[in-house]
Amino acid sequence: MTKTILCAAMCFCSLALYFTASVSSNTGQTKSTITFTKQIAPIFQKRCEECHHNGGAAPMSLVSYEEVRPWAKSIREKVSNRQMPPFHASGAIGRYHDDPRLTDEEIAMIKNWVDAGAPKGNLKDSPAPITWKNDWKLGAPDLTLTVKNVYRLKANPKDQYVFFVFDHVFAEDTWISSIATRPGNPKAVHHANTHLIPPTMKVPEEGYFEGDFNPGAHGTIMISGWVPGTNDVRLPQGTAVRIPKGMRFGIQIHYGPNEQPATDQTSLGLYFANGIVNKNLRMMFGDRKDLLIQPNDPNYSLTSKSTFGGDALIRFFHVHMHLRGKSYAFRFTYPDGRVETVFDVPNYDFNWQRSYILREPMRVPKGTQVEFIGTYDNSKQNKFNPDPSQSIRWGEKTTDEMMQGRIFYESVDEKLNLNVKNGRVVVTETANK
Ligand code: HEC
Repeated sequence: MTKTILCAAMCFCSLALYFTASVSSNTGQTKSTITFTKQIAPIFQKRCEECHHNGGAAPMSLVSYEEVRPWAKSIREKVSNRQMPPFHASGAIGRYHDDPRLTDEEIAMIKNWVDAGAPKGNLKDSPAPITWKNDWKLGAPDLTLTVKNVYRLKANPKDQYVFFVFDHVFAEDTWISSIATRPGNPKAVHHANTHLIPPTMKVPEEGYFEGDFNPGAHGTIMISGWVPGTNDVRLPQGTAVRIPKGMRFGIQIHYGPNEQPATDQTSLGLYFANGIVNKNLRMMFGDRKDLLIQPNDPNYSLTSKSTFGGDALIRFFHVHMHLRGKSYAFRFTYPDGRVETVFDVPNYDFNWQRSYILREPMRVPKGTQVEFIGTYDNSKQNKFNPDPSQSIRWGEKTTDEMMQGRIFYESVDEKLNLNVKNGRVVVTETANK
């Protein structure tokens, strides 16, 4: 029944698409009439400017025609092969929050525009300019944590990694509904993964670890992955993440290559839960430490398995591998025997790790089996591979490998019924009885 409705809706959609396409060709929208100001600038505002503005994460601004024109050929290439905007999960466009992918029509439009000589068009057709601010998208956080000292990056043609630990120790269990990341220097910060740090972890006086440092080996728990333009999403009312008493936050920052010395002081913004909290967000973790990749192996794969012990509502996904990482998929086998790949990163890119937050959470029944499948390319075809002649094992260095998959979900049956105010549980009289 549902299937029929879905099919009907889809058929209708493709009909509608066909219809608009023929209408637009009837109105004579040929290659030569596509101009920057009229058709291209609105796409770039929506899908590129967030990173490609002065002071944004990308190396160049793509706001004015004069800034865009010299890049036309490169833009054509990067959007055609979907390298830009960066997004690495497959599936329907719009399945995830902050999904920047272009539609096939938008890509065709950009290609046709470049092929026609990238005409500027009439200035009066330009959309109103956007002012980009490096600001909190969810409004002022309830608690802002800032890296202790300004960090000085040396000029470096290579990527650099630093794991910072924030000073703030949570004196009580605290329930939060969102974590936002605000890079101190958006140009320098390429991506960042946020971790919860147990009291047992020894932190150096300066408050950070440079280079290859594996926080997981110190008992930390990764809880979010950030790239420019993403992840400022609040959990719905009733669901929250508990930060246990005594914990701290840490953030692993990947800095891109920089020609000039630079500074950064990144902040995390925490948003407290309020009202009745019924669910503590949980994580299913897929991992294999017995990984062993032979030299030059272009397609090494291994699987880790887990099972949902109760009905679950899945909210987001994250995967983490290193430089040989090629693809990662989560395959579900439902209790009725049906098999489905629910999450797939077919072209894994170490430089673009992020959380993939579902717009519509996904419900799965108790007993659903999960296969976490990581695949690696240790051949010279992998352009990130520093040395195909090495055999590779699990390890903390980026030249070793990891195989981490995470599914963040809530338990359908959980009903904590906690009265939470500003992140703290309020003990009411009835709760005492
Ligand atoms: C999430 C941030 C982000 C978004 C959104 C984004 N870019 Fe980029 N872009 C980058 C970064 C960072 C680089 C530098 C290379 C890298 O790190 O991959 C880059 C590189 C490029 C390059 C290659 C520059 C070179 O040196 O050859 C082109 C072309 C480009 N982007 C075009 C676009 C276009 C067109 C869009 C929108 C349709 C877009 N990008 C959206 C972040 C972004």
